[in-house]
Amino acid sequence: MTQERITTLLTENRSYLPPEHGKSSAWISGTEEARAICQRALDDPDDFWAARATQLIHWYKRWDKVLESDEVNHKYRWFTNAKLNASFNCIDRHIISGRRNKAALIWQGEREMDVRCFTYQMLYTEVCRVAHALNSLHVKKGDRVALYMPMIPELVISMLACARIGAIHTAIFSGYAEGGVRSRIQDSKAKVVITADGVIRAGSVKPLKANLDPILEKCPSVAHVLVVHHANMQDVNMVKNRDIWWHDLVEDFTLDVDFPCVPMDANDPLFLLHTSGSTGKPSGILHSTGGYLTYAAHTSQWIFDMRDDDVYWCTADMGWITGHTYGVYGPLSLGATTLMFEGVPTYPKPDRYWRIVEKFRVNILYTAPTVIRSLMRMGEAWPERYDLRTLRVLGSVGEPINPEAWEWFHKVIGGGELPIVDTWWQTESGGAMISPFPYASRLKPGSASFPLPGIDAVVMGDAKKDGEDVSHENTKAGHLVIRKPWPGMMLGVYNDEEKYQSYFKRFGYFDSGDGAEIDEDGYFWILGRMDDNINVSGHRLSTAEIEAVLTANQYVSEAAVVSMPHEIKGEAIYAYVVLKDDIAWTDDIRKLLKEAIRKNIGALASPEYIQFVESMPKTQSGKIIRRMLRKIAGNVYDDIGDTTALARPEVIDEIIYGHKNIL
Ligand code: PRX
Repeated sequence: MTQERITTLLTENRSYLPPEHGKSSAWISGTEEARAICQRALDDPDDFWAARATQLIHWYKRWDKVLESDEVNHKYRWFTNAKLNASFNCIDRHIISGRRNKAALIWQGEREMDVRCFTYQMLYTEVCRVAHALNSLHVKKGDRVALYMPMIPELVISMLACARIGAIHTAIFSGYAEGGVRSRIQDSKAKVVITADGVIRAGSVKPLKANLDPILEKCPSVAHVLVVHHANMQDVNMVKNRDIWWHDLVEDFTLDVDFPCVPMDANDPLFLLHTSGSTGKPSGILHSTGGYLTYAAHTSQWIFDMRDDDVYWCTADMGWITGHTYGVYGPLSLGATTLMFEGVPTYPKPDRYWRIVEKFRVNILYTAPTVIRSLMRMGEAWPERYDLRTLRVLGSVGEPINPEAWEWFHKVIGGGELPIVDTWWQTESGGAMISPFPYASRLKPGSASFPLPGIDAVVMGDAKKDGEDVSHENTKAGHLVIRKPWPGMMLGVYNDEEKYQSYFKRFGYFDSGDGAEIDEDGYFWILGRMDDNINVSGHRLSTAEIEAVLTANQYVSEAAVVSMPHEIKGEAIYAYVVLKDDIAWTDDIRKLLKEAIRKNIGALASPEYIQFVESMPKTQSGKIIRRMLRKIAGNVYDDIGDTTALARPEVIDEIIYGHKNIL
């Protein structure tokens, strides 16, 4: 993040009080109540989490211990020996308690007239059928099932069917391409992949099953592929004895056959989700059943003030952690109505979101700053056409929200009244960690406000002294570190204990990888990633992963990828590339490299610019100084840092010259 942007955030001094109306019936009403809850969670965390787990979740058997900690190995196990099933909690329980006819899932397809709605009873029937189908493919407790699917109800149904069986689902974002999909399937050793013929996006159909076929040639673990016929694609290649149409298999199972939920241990994994790690390889973040579900329900209820009759819309793709926690597990475990949208905000017109809010009378809208910025650009006339008065709470996630976007969201969408919950968290945390309560926190645009109850977040410096880290709390700006475990915390990193341990290496506590600053009122301001991850439109990407694709190319000798500020995306990717000695810089090579990234990772990782350079700024020991490259990519030329220590100081002028030409 640029210094300029940090300064803009930190000089913000506007603040907004929580709305009065709705306050009296809110789950947490008022600052005093919020403070008292935080104190309670601090004084007796076991009691606090046990109470929340009891209030929110149905357990077949209660726990022996709320938390078992192994401080040396940083292993934290919540609700030990308790038994539950996430699918039971998200479906059956609400049927038993008289809500069988309530809408559980409303789906809006890309085409306006494509709407499907599942009551809890209907969801139960579909989930049981798919559980039977998976069972017939020999999927058992602990097996992995990869979900490479568009935003269609079958994705949610598959997640809940896996949970019912005790299989571990691993969603793979449908925008990922070959390399990204292959590495995830290989890492998880999935037995079954569920996919669709294609994805419908902004009026066109993109193949999904056809993408998968060459990938699976190198994924020997996959015994079957279940294919949803969604985009009406013709000539879909179906491999004999391996591929099965969803409708052929699922429809075979009669409607009245229950698939009994498999009782899971609280610390059995519920799902696996890969995210960008600090190296080229994505980390498979593993989440528990008991702790994760408790945390999903707990945060959904309090940060969105979710009530029984709310229509709640989380716009994130279900393939990301936000979709898992706040699109599926949080709202459904609370018995709410969750809305799912297949399309994009600007197709066919930039009014799509507002049309959906009016059409379904949405009460809670949770989206990302990048979406807000892009819709803000389209002008107020689009939202003004619609009746948005049912909205009660607005939410933001994925990247720091700039105050201008916050103000627009608040005024134009929220009528100048609605609270905005800016929720900071990450794949590893399972649920929100720093966030306001909508009816209890004074809001400062651009700040995620305070850590939630039980979340011991601090900012630490990392000054070196005598070769050792000296971490001191509450320095002005520094590393955002969480000192105590929380129930949503990941169980581990799949197949990679070393990576799990790396989160604790620097401070002995969980290092989020983000920078933050705490202001004089105690508000947290998130400053962005401190590691080599880049946050493009709220999608976390690893620079090392992109660099690996670039350097794998036959013409490339070296590559360095950094972030650059971007008006809509927040951050974008800027790549510096040194070609091999006898290779000329051409636009064709640029195209080739972009194509390689699209193919290997996905379009979302495609660089905004690729600059060819003669050589990289390096230390005497040969380490590329990315800090300097980041400044140049952000058009900062006069504050590059001390160039005298570079092996070739003149390289900086050459790069600046090239950068100015490229823009
Ligand atoms: O840098 C932070 C940013 O997104 C990262 C986590 O990305 P991911 O694991 O993909 O999960 C995204 C959805 C939770 C964080 O390390 N981030 C997330 N929310 C915010 C944020 N940055 C600032 N403000 C936020 N509200």
